[in-house]
Amino acid sequence: MIVNGRARTVAAPDEASLLHVLRGELGLVGTRHGCGSGQCGACFVLLDGEVKAACELTVGQARGRSVTTIEGLGSPERPHPIQAALLEEQAGQCGYCLSGIQIAAAALLARRPDPDEGQVRAALARNLCRCGAHGRIVRAVLRAAKAMRV
Ligand code: FES
Ligand code: FES
Repeated sequence: MIVNGRARTVAAPDEASLLHVLRGELGLVGTRHGCGSGQCGACFVLLDGEVKAACELTVGQARGRSVTTIEGLGSPERPHPIQAALLEEQAGQCGYCLSGIQIAAAALLARRPDPDEGQVRAALARNLCRCGAHGRIVRAVLRAAKAMRV
């Protein structure tokens, strides 16, 4: 696989969970393990640019493909605009949902640079936040979109 722009070969068999390989074998623990059954969005990654639940993929399905995790989105030194905006809006409490939300938001902004609030809500519809921070998260995505346009 190409993981965050770097070719990686893993020892896990094809049928192993991509989520477990990312977290366990590659140490990319920013991708969260929530429900484990495609229901919460905590484990979202980009697979060839498409938002996917890593808990529902096997490593074999990612063979030869490009995987982007939260670690590949930005860094403390060079945050993705969505990461900077989440901080500015103080959007989030425990933060458990935020990796998957940032992946979904980044995919939205890549294909739609000027979303309205309804489009942001629709793009994040599969991401659960049990802290109830959705209002601030939506504001942060709109803020990031604006920042990316200037
Ligand atoms: S852990 Fe994958 S969708 Fe919840
Ligand atoms: S900030 Fe806690 S689950 Fe979203």
